[in-house]
Amino acid sequence: MGIEIKTVGVIGAGQMGSGIAHVCSNAGFNVRLNDLSEERINAGLATINGNMARQVSKGAITEADRQTALERIKPARTYDDLGACDIVIEAATENEEVKRKIFTNLCPSLRPDAMVATNTSSISITRLAAATDRPEKFIGIHFMNPVPVMQLVELIRGIATDDATYESSKEFIHKLGKTSTAAEDFPAFIVNRILLPMINEAIYTLYEGVGSVEAIDTAMRLGANHPMGPLQLADFIGLDTCLSIMQVLHEGLADSKYRPCPLLVKYVEAGWLGRKTKRGFYDYR
Ligand code: CAA
Repeated sequence: MGIEIKTVGVIGAGQMGSGIAHVCSNAGFNVRLNDLSEERINAGLATINGNMARQVSKGAITEADRQTALERIKPARTYDDLGACDIVIEAATENEEVKRKIFTNLCPSLRPDAMVATNTSSISITRLAAATDRPEKFIGIHFMNPVPVMQLVELIRGIATDDATYESSKEFIHKLGKTSTAAEDFPAFIVNRILLPMINEAIYTLYEGVGSVEAIDTAMRLGANHPMGPLQLADFIGLDTCLSIMQVLHEGLADSKYRPCPLLVKYVEAGWLGRKTKRGFYDYR
């Protein structure tokens, strides 16, 4: 048996990290939220506050639940502030070097029995595990965006992940009220292996002039019953993240069918990253 999880550390207070902290505190876990600066942590806390207020207005939680859940989340300014955590989930930028550096610097601050997880959406769990001092206690726990709404969490073992870590993680996801699905450690796992080539194809469809942004999104919303059109979804995920995932697929599977669309590359080079920069396929300014 693995350790019982009571306190969860989250590294990265952005879109995914704040969502993970949110659902963990709603489920009664103590949360320690870390990012590069006090400003980023505070921005993450403000996002959580806003999303919990939305849940109160929808009647999903009470105002008292919101207050206690917010109190359970404490800022962690340094990795030493994560020292009491039973599990630390990394949700930093989708960049292998950034993630490896975090794990190397983080591990000396943790208890020897603490688990370490990554929310990577595409990078090899086995390779990331090798940057830690505990590959057997390392696992991929991949949440979907928006985390408070999406039911699925992908669970991915690295080559060395032990059964106790897998079982504890599965139980943890269950306590969050979510459903886990097992994926093998292949580039982009299951959801993004299927979803991102679809989004990339939508961008090619735009690039080749087959349809306008609005036509492509309307076609897929009303023609395939997707809740969002693929270009709207790309803006929502972040075009930099979409490009990173396509690059991991392209390099990892060495197949030209995963070649990132040149238009996606150009938008990222322009700094048009979607909603977070207020400009992507749509203009949010
Ligand atoms: N926090 C809390 N609640 C939220 C929320 C948030 N951030 N965002 C939306 N909600 C809630 C709303 O309050 C609403 O609740 P009720 O059903 O109780 O009314 C519900 O979610 C639906 O929201 P809205 O009515 O505002 O809007 P919508 O009906 O258009 O749904 C959506 C929004 C849930 C995001 C929907 O458009 C959707 O499912 N889109 C697709 C999302 C998707 O595909 N995500 C996967 C991305 S890929 C990924 O994450 C993997 C990766 O690694 C890149």
